[in-house]
Amino acid sequence: MILVTGGAGFIGANFVLDWLSTCDEPVVNLDALTYAGNLENLASLKGDPRHIFVQGDICDRELVDRLFAEHQPRAIVHFAAESHVDRSIHGPGDFVRTNVNGTFTLLEAARGHWMGLDDAAKAAFRFHHVSTDEVYGSLGPTDPAFSETKTYEPNSPYSASKAASDHLVRAWHHTYGLPVTTSNCSNNYGPYHFPEKLIPLMIANALAGKPLPVYGDGQQIRDWLYVTDHCSAIRAVLAKGTPGEVYNVGGWNEKPNIEIVHTLCALLDELKPDPAGSYSRLITYVTDRPGHDRRYAIDARKIERELGWRPAETFETGIRKTVAWYLANQEWVAHILSGAYRDWVDTNYAGR
Ligand code: NAD
Ligand code: DAU
Repeated sequence: MILVTGGAGFIGANFVLDWLSTCDEPVVNLDALTYAGNLENLASLKGDPRHIFVQGDICDRELVDRLFAEHQPRAIVHFAAESHVDRSIHGPGDFVRTNVNGTFTLLEAARGHWMGLDDAAKAAFRFHHVSTDEVYGSLGPTDPAFSETKTYEPNSPYSASKAASDHLVRAWHHTYGLPVTTSNCSNNYGPYHFPEKLIPLMIANALAGKPLPVYGDGQQIRDWLYVTDHCSAIRAVLAKGTPGEVYNVGGWNEKPNIEIVHTLCALLDELKPDPAGSYSRLITYVTDRPGHDRRYAIDARKIERELGWRPAETFETGIRKTVAWYLANQEWVAHILSGAYRDWVDTNYAGR
């Protein structure tokens, strides 16, 4: 079995759903259910014995030790993090706690467990760390895309905390020999994306007739990847990656933010037209994010060359699927906006 952290969040939940749809290896899912954790994302697994959900904090060493001892996972896939850049600007403390101290706690617990394994199990064990392209800093318009050897230049409290966690993971391999792998991925989008992030926020606001807040001049560039492609990349690293190696994961889809917002408006105009006129009438330029990185782009040639991974979705297919998913899952969005998703555990698991 594998231990997944943060499996009730956006990418973690997609990963758990994907994992259990492609194999029968059970998952222990450790998630603190912060504001970003939502068990409704995993509703389709209710009653499935292959999914063991544990509500708890990755900083809780006793709990993590107990999970290793009880379940003897052959691998850990570590998603749990504070992930929103805007929140990191307003309150960096939680980011240092979870992203740095939490990763440290997991590494130490994993090391303790790993040292007790026999040689074959030791060699097969993996600690996969899920990280971000933001650790590399910001690119100029003609700079080459981030390769795995790009220097770290994190600019936000979020990216600095993720960079710190990447360094810890690297050190636990070099110093102790723990078989770690790291993936640094670009911006994900798709189902179950929390509506504080650009794409789901724009869809939710448009449907509610609210302004679509574009930061600064809207010309910042991100490299978008459909979330299930990120999941397949992690599966490939887990299965075939070399311990100690880093793999950059991206979609070869660099787009300025304003183009993303226009694309979303055009898709909504087609799929759910508003009698008041095109959704693009709601686009509103607002004050820029402090320290806003201008451009990210991932050079994903290493993972393609060494592990044979390539994204299955183009931006055009992925974004259409995403808009269709949000239109079909308005209740999921409504529960988040009303806060009702936080009661989901009580109402659905009461009496268990
Ligand atoms: P998310 O914010 O949607 O989910 C994070 C999950 O972690 C939530 O379920 C939350 O409850 C849980 N969590 C937070 N603190 C915890 C703690 N102390 N103990 C246990 N669980 C805790 O994040 P996401 O967008 O799904 O990102 C997942 C991972 O992928 C993060 O490590 C992030 O840095 C990385 N990443 C994200 C993107 C992206 O575009 N979203 C891109 C590259 C890398
Ligand atoms: O690059 C990977 C990273 O992508 C992940 O590591 C982070 O966890 C994830 O949150 C994401 O970070 P970004 O800051 O790029 O994502 P966000 O959706 O917050 O913003 C995308 C771009 O859109 C960014 O340039 C800021 C801009 N933006 C965002 C919001 C929420 C707006 O213009 N308006 C908005 O309201």
